Amino acid sequence: EPSDEERLFDELIANEQRIEPRDWMPDAYRRTLVRQISQHAHSEIIGMQPEGNWITRAPSLKRKAILMAKVQDEAGHGLYLYSAAQTLGTTREEMMDQLLSGKAKYSSIFNYPTPTWADMGAIGWLVDGAAICNQVPLCRASYGPYGRAMVRICKEESFHQRQGFEILLTLMQGTDEQRAMAQDAVDRWYWPSLAMFGPPDDQSPNSAQSMQWKIKRFSNDELRQRFVSMLVPQAEILGVTLPDPELRYDEETGRYEMGEIDWDEFFEVLRGNGPCNAERIERRRTAHEEGAWVREAAAEYARKQRSTLVP
Ligand code: 3HC
Repeated sequence: EPSDEERLFDELIANEQRIEPRDWMPDAYRRTLVRQISQHAHSEIIGMQPEGNWITRAPSLKRKAILMAKVQDEAGHGLYLYSAAQTLGTTREEMMDQLLSGKAKYSSIFNYPTPTWADMGAIGWLVDGAAICNQVPLCRASYGPYGRAMVRICKEESFHQRQGFEILLTLMQGTDEQRAMAQDAVDRWYWPSLAMFGPPDDQSPNSAQSMQWKIKRFSNDELRQRFVSMLVPQAEILGVTLPDPELRYDEETGRYEMGEIDWDEFFEVLRGNGPCNAERIERRRTAHEEGAWVREAAAEYARKQRSTLVP
């Protein structure tokens, strides 16, 4: 027999109401939100590295300024999301330990290298494009702090996606070498960006419960399909080829048929064996250690502020 609290919780969810930090919630609802929100935050912070790699080598001051703004935005997204996770009772230290110890995941996509400038275009167009498809529905997540954090994140993501598209368009209107560089980046980032949406629906252990609790609004495959249908016309405008020879639109179903994603590669990356996993965590660990003095100074300053307040 469900308790009054459970009945009220179920009613709020059924009526598309928001669950707020002080509301009663099932432990499993709290746990899955801490899992997803903290891993989302880790993804944003780790995601700064592949792009940060090109800030000092951007081809012009304008591109450097845009890229710096984008990487700063990702840091901000991470901070909103860590704060949203903290409203569920976890701490920043716990989440950081889970990331550095390898216990927590972050988006597979950031374990790939960025060898050329065109990668900045492919990341903006494909990775931020995928992130938008995944994050717009999250604006309606049943947990208040998460949904509200998403609203601002999505606004900034659309700027990220557009600047990536524009980098690729500029390259595709350039020399043969520039066009080849853009196509090479699209070839390397296309499949990993499809994998970003998560495993196929029949291999997604969290989806059913997450959809019942209205955290996840659409399945992994549904969002992947939506993303591809958004990409096809944009690829035509860019003049790039999406590297899937089996990609075709099925008039009957109104959906795109696509080639098989390499799920072995995906799960290898999740196990920590992607091209850049070790380097990403090492950089994060070093940054965390080198930043310890800032955290200590801020904590000491806050203590002094408190002690000078009139008791
Ligand atoms: N990378 C790493 N792990 C992934 C993954 C990916 N691309 N896709 C799925 N997984 C993990 C899941 O976390 C889960 O493991 P866990 O139980 O230990 O957490 C397991 O694989 C099974 O996947 P499920 O489909 O069952 O898990 P979810 O229901 O959580 O769905 C998700 C996965 C769609 C990624 C969902 O967690 C989600 O929407 N997360 C928030 C959005 C997010 O993280 N987006 C990517 C951020 S990148 C970004 O936005 C940066 C951009 O601004 C540049």
